Amino acid sequence: MDRRTFLLQAVTASFVTGVASQVSATSYFFQPAVDQLLFDGINRVKDHAKKTGLEKSHSPAILAPISAKSGEPFTVEIMVGENLHPMGPSHWIEYIELSIGNEPAGRLEFQSRGFMKPKAVFTIAIPKDAAPSGKITLVARQRCNLHGLWESSADISIT
Ligand SMILES: [Fe+2]
Repeated sequence: MDRRTFLLQAVTASFVTGVASQVSATSYFFQPAVDQLLFDGINRVKDHAKKTGLEKSHSPAILAPISAKSGEPFTVEIMVGENLHPMGPSHWIEYIELSIGNEPAGRLEFQSRGFMKPKAVFTIAIPKDAAPSGKITLVARQRCNLHGLWESSADISIT
């Protein structure tokens, strides 16, 4: 390879690398287009047998026991996405919250820099009078700055 070809290849590689990093930095700091339909209401998985990519990455997954003793603490873990949703300045999960039925129980808020992953562990105890039917519904919600509010629920029997 002669000197002229070497310099031409080096300049081309440098230019391509620079453009690629600019594109990457642009999408990191500036928001891409947003589908406004996702912000019209609460989004839920429509068919659990055939989840879309958006549903897989945004539906809160609830990990909790199927039954618990009244008054005794147990943990409820909520993860956003089957693989944790990305967290960065242009696209992040703003909060995860848990309700017991219609009653808000707790909320964890996240900053946009991405230090934290979108996963929350709540320790709760359900008094007997809060579950007169012997069952409660855990409702998990999360809000993505680009993809709106998402909700899922799980029933737990209280003995
Ligand atoms: Fe998102």
